[in-house]
Amino acid sequence: MPQPHLRTVVVLAAGEGKRMKSTLPKVLHPLLGRTLLGHVLSAAAPLGADRTVVVVGHGADQVRAHLTEIAPDATPVLQAEQLGTGHAVRIALDAVPEGAGTVVVINGDVPLLRPETVGALVTAHEEAAAAATVLAAEVPDPTGLGRIVRDTDGRLEQIVEERDADATQRAIREINAGIYAFDAVRLREALGKLSTDNDQGEEYLTDVFGLLRSAGEPVAVHVAVDHVETLGCNDRVELASLRRLLRDRVNEAWMRTGVSLLDPVTTWIDVTVALDRDAVVDQNTQLRGATVVGAGALVGPDVTLVDTIVGPAASVVRSHAVGAEVGAGASVGPYAYLRPAARLADKAKVGTFVEVKNSEIGAGSKVPHLTYVGDATIGEQTNIGAASVFVNYDGVNKHRTVIGSHARTGADNMFVAPVEVGDGAYTAAGSVIVDDVPPGAMGVARARQRNIEGWVVKRRAGTAAAEAAQRAGDAEGAQRIGDAEGASEVAGTASDSEAMHGRAETVGGASGAGDTATE
Ligand code: UD1
Ligand code: MG
Repeated sequence: MPQPHLRTVVVLAAGEGKRMKSTLPKVLHPLLGRTLLGHVLSAAAPLGADRTVVVVGHGADQVRAHLTEIAPDATPVLQAEQLGTGHAVRIALDAVPEGAGTVVVINGDVPLLRPETVGALVTAHEEAAAAATVLAAEVPDPTGLGRIVRDTDGRLEQIVEERDADATQRAIREINAGIYAFDAVRLREALGKLSTDNDQGEEYLTDVFGLLRSAGEPVAVHVAVDHVETLGCNDRVELASLRRLLRDRVNEAWMRTGVSLLDPVTTWIDVTVALDRDAVVDQNTQLRGATVVGAGALVGPDVTLVDTIVGPAASVVRSHAVGAEVGAGASVGPYAYLRPAARLADKAKVGTFVEVKNSEIGAGSKVPHLTYVGDATIGEQTNIGAASVFVNYDGVNKHRTVIGSHARTGADNMFVAPVEVGDGAYTAAGSVIVDDVPPGAMGVARARQRNIEGWVVKRRAGTAAAEAAQRAGDAEGAQRIGDAEGASEVAGTASDSEAMHGRAETVGGASGAGDTATE
């Protein structure tokens, strides 16, 4: 049995990426759920390399920190000065033990590379027992790239950088994709012989091919089926165009697995997202991070989901969610905001202009309109009245509100946490609930209304309101106003708004208190 090849992957990521004009190192720019570097590492992952070395330089600390997160087994190696791609590989190999096998080198800025393509390159290289194999592609516009120069027999002669190329060489449209497989021993030898005799005064990795060929070693070209995979990223215009290409690739793959995308051009799905069969994604929708969309769920239009789990047959319409969970058959939006640890059980509903944070909403419970639910636990089959606020913050600490099952809370309630409303309890509309409401009780906490009859005709005479009141037969009321002791006091001292809302009084009874709850 032949020994399996020892494989080393070297990713070149020390360059600054000047043309990105960014404080973020180029390889850390994000592209549909992974950094450029993350994409390259996942394209190489199926090789099952025995070791992975990442050459870092510009923004080394940031790149190292990112590696700890996404590829803790990779070894970062510092290239303090960027003296060329050949120099970078030399430094990388200096950091790993000598040994035979295959060294796969990948530029850090080719994020569309697919694992199948890297695999095919390495297999071709190992089967041919070549000293070095380069991935090449025929491209419509080779500007700025290294050209594959072949001899009259069509064999690789050398790779020439555009800036060192003559006119004939520049006309070649077959380019070096920046992905290579090398025999470890022969690569180490050749790297020791690199010169800096070129336009940039750098050690070019690409010169290894000319050196090996002159020494009579077998060098090979592996041509990529789809040149799009080999596109590099040098500025933000290219980054945007790579993003579009990747979007199309991802969307096509999901449609082929049985997901409906109603407008693929405005649907942006991170490579880390999962969707089940018969999910429907409507237009202008972004699905990001660890988001999962269950079978038959409807998401969109105009939805952004980050790290959010949507259960089967749920619907999320015109809403934004981060770190939330939406149960099976639950419904969200339009215009809802689910924040981290918002958890909706099966068939729960979070409606229009509702914000939920760090709260459980039990099965079948509804928060239909204009409400903030923060740090709460709501039981099952409960209805929360419109325009309510779970007052969770006392200025220093956050507190929890607990609402039981089958409760009916009135519209415009404040639940001043910590507070508890029991199973089957009701609360009156307009209540500020500061004390616990026992199971089955009606909690009322608001002023009783009084009407000062004839006030408008008397105090706002000549206005359209007064005329309307008179037409409605309030002339009599206007007469009575003189009798209403204290009425002028209210109208005279309070602002219009206060007067219109009346003065605080304690409600004695609760008849009809819950009438204004909404469903
Ligand atoms: C390189 C190739 C070119 C190929 C192109 C494909 C060389 C000499 N040229 O050119 O033939 O067509 O890629 O995209 O290799 N890097 C380091 N240390 C350095 C220099 C570069 O780590 O000292 C890294 C960069 O961060 C980058 C990669 O190597 O990820 C390629 O470097 P870049 O400067 O982009 O090379 P190109 O000019 O694009
Ligand atoms: Mg480049």
